[in-house]
Amino acid sequence: MKTLIIYKSYHRMNTEKVAKAMAETMNATLAKVESVLPEELAGYDLIGFGSGIYGYKHHKTLFNLIEMMPPMEKNVFVFSTSGNFRERHHQPLKEKLAGKGCKVVGEFWCPGEFSPLGFNLDLKGAFALIGGMNKGHPDEKDLEKARAFAKGLMTTSTVGVIT
Ligand SMILES: Cc1cc2nc3c(=O)[nH]c(=O)nc-3n(C[C@H](O)[C@H](O)[C@H](O)COP(=O)(O)O)c2cc1C
Repeated sequence: MKTLIIYKSYHRMNTEKVAKAMAETMNATLAKVESVLPEELAGYDLIGFGSGIYGYKHHKTLFNLIEMMPPMEKNVFVFSTSGNFRERHHQPLKEKLAGKGCKVVGEFWCPGEFSPLGFNLDLKGAFALIGGMNKGHPDEKDLEKARAFAKGLMTTSTVGVIT
């Protein structure tokens, strides 16, 4: 199965770690979203789209790429790292992909370190918005779950892992 994993990661490179773990497991091509041309996508059997969550959704560059890609009945999966998981974080990207004719066959999330002022006091709730949270994530356990998710994608038709 020819697999492409497209990602955007910039805050702490959290999502890049997850994307790399998945790509190694699946023997997939790994690509930063800026380097992908919409017309290239047709050449893959399965495509993953992932980023951190910024302002309740995936990074806008992923939406832009999907907007430019031609309609295609493609199996896709979505993944993210963020402060907290909310179903509504993934929903906009899933809807965008469905609008192009794609079938979402899996989704993955794990915590990602958030250090808004450049340091991390590993706080909870509203204080975390200033002092930071999820220090050290994704950690090895999170990456192991990402690998297990990737393995599942190769063997079953629909998987979902929200850690
Ligand atoms: C500008 C900005 C906005 C963010 N917005 C949210 C958010 O709405 N919800 C959330 O749970 N986390 C939010 N986060 C935390 C990031 O999703 C988290 O740190 C993520 O792991 C960053 O991924 P990256 O290192 O791959 O860029 C935000 C982070 C930044 C920098």
